[in-house]
Amino acid sequence: MKSCDTRTEPFVLTTPLYYVNDLPHIGSAYTTIAADALARFMRLQGKSVLLITGTDEHGQKIQRTAESHERSPQEYCDEIAAGFVALWQQLNIQYDRFIRTTAPKHEAIVQEFFQRVWEKGDIYLSQQKGWYCVSCEEFKEERELLEGHRCAIHTNKQAEWRDEQNYFFRLSRYQSQIEALCQRPDFIQPESRRNEVINFVTQGLQDFSISRVNLNWGFPVPVDQSHTLYVWFDALLGYVTALLESDSEPTLENALAKWWPIDLHLIGKDILRFHAVYWPAMLMSAGLPLPGRVFGHGFLTKDGQKMGKSLGNTLDPVALVNRHGADYVRYYFLKEIEFGKDGDFNETRFKNIINADLANDLGNLLNRTLNMARKYFENKVPSCKSDNIPSEHPLKAIGLNLGEQVRQNYEALAFSQVCELILVLVRASNKFIDQQAPWKLYKQGQNAAVEQVLYAVLESVRLAAYLLAPIIPHGANKIYKQLGFVADFNNKTQISMVAPFITHSTWGMLNDKQELGEPQPVFQRLELLETV
Ligand code: MSP
Repeated sequence: MKSCDTRTEPFVLTTPLYYVNDLPHIGSAYTTIAADALARFMRLQGKSVLLITGTDEHGQKIQRTAESHERSPQEYCDEIAAGFVALWQQLNIQYDRFIRTTAPKHEAIVQEFFQRVWEKGDIYLSQQKGWYCVSCEEFKEERELLEGHRCAIHTNKQAEWRDEQNYFFRLSRYQSQIEALCQRPDFIQPESRRNEVINFVTQGLQDFSISRVNLNWGFPVPVDQSHTLYVWFDALLGYVTALLESDSEPTLENALAKWWPIDLHLIGKDILRFHAVYWPAMLMSAGLPLPGRVFGHGFLTKDGQKMGKSLGNTLDPVALVNRHGADYVRYYFLKEIEFGKDGDFNETRFKNIINADLANDLGNLLNRTLNMARKYFENKVPSCKSDNIPSEHPLKAIGLNLGEQVRQNYEALAFSQVCELILVLVRASNKFIDQQAPWKLYKQGQNAAVEQVLYAVLESVRLAAYLLAPIIPHGANKIYKQLGFVADFNNKTQISMVAPFITHSTWGMLNDKQELGEPQPVFQRLELLETV
């Protein structure tokens, strides 16, 4: 289990392991972007981060989809999993582990875990009767279904009636422990989701089936080969298998040795029960420490409407990133949508936000200031000591508290607030430069005043770029380069040494006389008439 060396404090976070019934959709991209931004922020602070993602490849849904494409399930999974890897690369996602649940080492972990729970007496055989939604891979209560037994999430799919023998997990045994866990304010976030889960738990937990018959795409139940393990039982354990070092034997002991327990599971709100109720109960049964936090984000819509293939309004993340690049896509989703609430994608809004925040407010600010520094101070950071700037200075006053405020908001996953806070400094800098009119001061021969104005603005742009780097790493790199730094925010092993948080998150670290780079536009404006 984790050691407590604060210098390299570990931080482990996960995205869901995505189903491979289809190519990645914008919902999967959304969770992964958020996870990556947080992971990058933690790395800036010098923590040892492990970001886990991957694919969930078993179960009826995948088996049927592969059959409908006349492919073997494994072949089909291989193809779709490669699509996820490619999209994460395009979106500049720096994951540390990519686990596929069809990996042979995963079967060994699942078997060992099953055995522990079996020996604890928490698995038994019984009759399962109920409505099963194959798309959710979940039994539904009759009252949860729409007319005609259609699933409320997959409204064009009918749940199927099942009456079969299954192995069950004794969830009911963990009622009081799960209740206590859900009462902890930090375990399930945001609060609205916690309340949903508490509601569900207080109605009384029912044992749930963890095996299927008439399905062969999955691992056999270790104690009864005529059953296949339920896809969710196997999938959640993917988080454990992902912790194995590539050369170690696939045993629970090895998997849990270094990184366990996981600090944060980032998921969408539809799979909260699995992560906040079933998963901790499974871990309790196996006698393992629990994850620190489960955060359920909201759902995305497009132009205010639920997205779906049948509705013909899906938003293809690959097309979006091909067209606009990773930074813009990352920025839009993290800035525009309050993380935890539902949010919308709208193309005009997308372009307006990028143009206003990045191209105009931040990009132009850098460009005009650099051009003045080039003209007035031989392309060097003006000579000015930040210690000589009073703390009431309008930019320094904002900048001095910004690093800490932003840190707190990243850690609370309040990405939108992170961006807003940084924009306050950027907008104040634009206003400041307009009011101070350094070009007039220069003409009046007030050199010391010009130096101070330009220093304060350049330093504010630097700080903004540094704090935005986890969200827009390419843009931050370009800004840092033009300010004369050699840091690479995409170098995950070096960045906390080259640009440590402790110094770079502080307003006033820019060295005077530092040679500046060539001023070049960092953020291209988007034309409003183009369509995605
Ligand atoms: N395979 C399971 C997870 C197993 S984790 C051990 C699964 N996969 S999924 O591919 O269907 O969903 C992955 C994630 O995408 C979920 O967190 C889900 O909430 C999210 N989203 C699916 N549609 C979404 C939107 N329209 N908007 C935002 N996120 C959405 O569930």
